[in-house]
Amino acid sequence: MLVAGNWKMFKGAHEARAFATRIRHLPERTPGVEVVVCPPFVSLQATLQGLGEGCLVRVYAQNVHWELDGAFTGEVSAPMLLELGVKGAIVGHSERRQHFGESDETVRFRAEAAIEAGLVVIACVGETEAERVAEETGAVLARQVAALPRHERLVIAYEPVWAIGTGRSATPEMAQEAHALIKSLHPSRVLYGGSVKPENALVLLSQPDVDGALVGGASLDPASFEAICLAGAEAAAA
Ligand code: PGA
Repeated sequence: MLVAGNWKMFKGAHEARAFATRIRHLPERTPGVEVVVCPPFVSLQATLQGLGEGCLVRVYAQNVHWELDGAFTGEVSAPMLLELGVKGAIVGHSERRQHFGESDETVRFRAEAAIEAGLVVIACVGETEAERVAEETGAVLARQVAALPRHERLVIAYEPVWAIGTGRSATPEMAQEAHALIKSLHPSRVLYGGSVKPENALVLLSQPDVDGALVGGASLDPASFEAICLAGAEAAAA
């Protein structure tokens, strides 16, 4: 079970450090759950400092470039992340695909390079509302998943775009159906993302093919993030 908090463009260094200090002992209360936070690049180091040496909470970045270095203004490479103590990165989040021109091809480049460098990768896939209405969900997921490398450190996050930040999560049945499809195509763990909150975490995480959660809004408040991680531990123990 993996529960990752995606902070998106929230929490500068000061706030990130305070959050990290508060949750540093959380994994001791959530057996069976890998707890991960994904701060903005500029807050990675402060988060690691707040967690401290030997802490079991892992820190992942929200993106990573495919080259080791070079003339790529605004990008950050895997070796730069590893040097800080960052253990993984999200790639292909729908906000990157929608607003920053990310494609299946660039997602594949980023995922392959990050895996090669030794990072864990959370690769995001998911259909838009229009695609679901047009009954294209299966085809969209198959296309996005086909672009991803196969590796034990590659984790897929199923995030229906219409469920992200809307408060309207997929039903447990919808999530289970999509996760089962993804797992029939790719041998990876599959996290669910899209309006996960303390009230729906247990039922979503209890679905047989749901291996964790990628949490946006509800990961910004430590009490709510803790509650979701505790639900993960309960689901893992069942
Ligand atoms: P949300 O975001 O939990 O705020 O819906 C999830 C995500 O974008 O990863």
